[in-house]
Formats: sequence, structure tokens, C-alpha cells
Amino acid sequence: MKGIILAGGAGKRLSPLTRVTSKQLLPIYNRPMIYYPLNTLIKAGIKEILIIIAPEKAGEFLNLLGSGKDFGVKFTYEIQDKPRGLPEAFIIGENFLDNDDVVMILGDNIFEKDLSEDIRSFKSGGRVFAVEVEDPERSGVVEFDKNMKVLSIEEKPEHPKSNFIIPGLFIYDSRVIQFAKELEPSRRGELEITDIHKKYLELGELDVKKFSGEWIDAGTFDSLLRANQLAQEKLHKNLVI
Ligand code: DAU
Repeated sequence: MKGIILAGGAGKRLSPLTRVTSKQLLPIYNRPMIYYPLNTLIKAGIKEILIIIAPEKAGEFLNLLGSGKDFGVKFTYEIQDKPRGLPEAFIIGENFLDNDDVVMILGDNIFEKDLSEDIRSFKSGGRVFAVEVEDPERSGVVEFDKNMKVLSIEEKPEHPKSNFIIPGLFIYDSRVIQFAKELEPSRRGELEITDIHKKYLELGELDVKKFSGEWIDAGTFDSLLRANQLAQEKLHKNLVI
């Protein structure tokens, strides 16, 4: 299995913090933000990792991360010219993926609990996670029936049907590249990752697992602050996330 870290985008919501640097390089306590999703992949044994970045910030990522040797892995870099949506990562990464399965993580997503087993045990289809939050309208929302069967998946609905959202770590087999190519942009003008989840759901091949630890999308001032606190709390207990 190969890994992708999607770390492009403009980070406008965090301006002026992101005026001269990327959101994914901002400090989270003692490390740059991207170290956290990177560590999630490395812990799961992923050795080949594609880092997708915005053109104007590419040099900063290269300076910080280099070849990957220091981390015991190999990094490949690709540029995303414009933020056209999360699924574009699979199209950009087509050659890199070379028919392997993929785990993609967003460069601003922090998972408190280890996901290694869930990544390693993946066989085929799609596997995503569901985490309960107080503000589901900010994310991709998943609704279940009482047997945990998925009833619906909606991107940032005005009236969410549940409090469970799909956080930014997605595992797919190599068909995801073709599915991404077939997508049409949404009303927001972007390719939507929820449309990929829905495709696997229609095929009856989407596995949604509950994630019970803390999850943070560090893209707002409040969540950025919380991410710093969480990293500090963990480190004081000698735990590295
Ligand atoms: O965080 C989990 C959520 O991520 C999911 O629940 C949603 O279904 C999914 O659409 C996404 O929502 P966000 O509002 O968090 O997406 P955002 O546009 O903020 O992009 C997430 C990260 O990916 C952000 O750090 C920037 C980067 N990005 C985004 C886009 C659209 C790229 O590198 N390229 C892109 O084209």
C-alpha cells in the first residue's frame, strides 16, 4: 500500500498565519503540523509517500522533509496547481500509485489514536472512518441505521442527518483513480471526496469503521489551538501522536 499526504490549498481561513507559510507547516506544539499525519502513515508501515503541495509553497516542504531518508521512508512530491478538490490527488498520483492500494491523509488532520491495524488489514474496496463531532455541518456527514448500515453520505449539509462525520483518512483500492476521473465538480466547483465514498457505497464495497479517539481538522484558529493542547497533553504522558 502507498500513502498520499494532501497538503495543498491556500489555508485562507488561517490568514494571516498562512500569509508566508503553509498551514500544514504551522507549529503544533513541538512539531510542524504535517509531522502528525506523516507519523500516522509511518506507524502503519507505509514506506512510499506522495506529498501533494501548492506550487508557491513547494520549496518549504522540500526543505523541511527532504527525501524521506531521515524518516526511513521515500517521499515523492507533486504539485497541485489549483485546489480543485481532494479526489484530484488520485489523478495527480496515478503514476506513483501504479495500481497499488492507497491510504490518503489530509495534511491538517490529526488522529489521536493509532490507525495502523485498520490500514494494514485493508483488502479491497474503500475503507473510511466515522467520528462523532458537535459541528457535523463542517465536514462530510455519514448517517447510519441501528445496525450501523450506512444510509447516506453528504458533503457539508445544511441540516446534517447525524453527528458522525468522515475524517480525512481514506483507504481505497486502485479503482479510485478511474472513479476520480469520472467525477464532475460539485456546486462548489470542486471534485468531492464524498462522491468517491458514495461510489464505493453503491457498489456495496464501502467499509465505515467508528473512530473513538480524538480527531482534529486543524484548519481553524480554535482547532489549531486544541491540536497544540492535545500534542502537549500527549507528550507530557510520553506519548507521540
Ligand atoms: O477533514 C475531513 C473533511 O475534509 C471531510 O469530512 C470532507 O468530506 C472533505 O471534503 C474535507 O473537508 P474540508 O472542508 O476539511 O476540506 P478542505 O477544502 O478544507 O481541504 C482539506 C485539506 O486538503 C486542506 O488542508 C487543504 C487541502 N486541499 C484541499 C483541496 C480542496 C488540497 O491540498 N487540495 C485541494 O484541492
